[in-house]
Amino acid sequence: MSKDIVLTGDRPTGKLHLGHYVGSLKRRVELQNSGKYDQIYIEIADAQALSDNAHDVEKIRQNVIEVALDYLACGIDPKKSTIFVQSQVSELCELTFYYLNLVTLARLQRNPTIKEEIKHRKFENSIPTGFLTYPISQAADITAFNATIIPVGDDQLPMIEQTREIVRSFNNLYGETLVEPTAVLPENETCMRLPGLDGKAKMSKSLNNCIYLADEPEVIEKKIMGMFTDPNHLKVSDPGVVENNPVFIYLDAFCNDEHFSKYLPEYKNLDELKDHYRKGGLGDVKVKRFLNSIIQEELAPIRERRKELEQHIPEVYKILYEGSQKAIEVASQTLNNVKEAMGINYFNDKDLIDSQIDRFTNEKK
Ligand code: TRP
Repeated sequence: MSKDIVLTGDRPTGKLHLGHYVGSLKRRVELQNSGKYDQIYIEIADAQALSDNAHDVEKIRQNVIEVALDYLACGIDPKKSTIFVQSQVSELCELTFYYLNLVTLARLQRNPTIKEEIKHRKFENSIPTGFLTYPISQAADITAFNATIIPVGDDQLPMIEQTREIVRSFNNLYGETLVEPTAVLPENETCMRLPGLDGKAKMSKSLNNCIYLADEPEVIEKKIMGMFTDPNHLKVSDPGVVENNPVFIYLDAFCNDEHFSKYLPEYKNLDELKDHYRKGGLGDVKVKRFLNSIIQEELAPIRERRKELEQHIPEVYKILYEGSQKAIEVASQTLNNVKEAMGINYFNDKDLIDSQIDRFTNEKK
């Protein structure tokens, strides 16, 4: 059994989509089922989601359960992994409050993911303070559980780096207390950031370019058949480009040689299919139909499990409640260690109390 502790999380701003699935979710289930880790934490980061949704708490409220259903449907097993809700673990706020003192405003403003998100949300001149500082609260999420392995997509690398810096500053100032985490990216490079159906850089709810894990088969098929491809590949006979072509990027992420023998036996593997597309004579419809078969096969069992779970909502909330209770236990231990290291655990600090007795009695003498 590895001593590593795994932690990751998602903001509950919508149902989870294929990008979440290949970027992180699938990996978590593999890590969980490897049996190598006895501590795996999965956080529904509702407080982080509120940092840019303060005016729409209802959206977050609705999506906590959607994300929980997606997790369980994908195979996250509450017996093996602790699923918890960030806002219910108030220790995380306390940790954040002390970590805030270890990070400068300039450092926060340099975070490339934050910069991109600020632009995307048109926050330029009115950034909510909670939004700018969420990487610090994410450091609390990670360090509270002494997590060492953080399976994430590449957009989260700046957050893990920020966490490592906070850990080092804290340990330098107050003594070895916190543990430095490492980000673990998906092995398959195309999985790191699956583009949207429209070819835009990222699958994102606000761009309306996602396939959701909960989508019905007809919806998935319609979305795939309408995908963006090579815009210059007009006739079947035209030579096509596979680079930056989302249909081929999805195939890179999802297909294996068995899919060919099952659904497209004229080709041995993806290289052969790509060669034919490049040469010309292979139509988009055929490639999309193949992709559709693969995605349908992958998502059917997830959708079925989700439907089943939807009939047991109180049990799902109970799983979140119990996970949160466990998270509180672990996080309060870390918080105690942090306060002790800083020397602000006044009432348990016998040395402090004795030294004050000495000081005041000596002064009187
Ligand atoms: N910031 C992550 C995202 O937007 C969510 C998240 C919150 C997270 N806390 C975390 C991820 C801790 C990894 C570890 O997807």
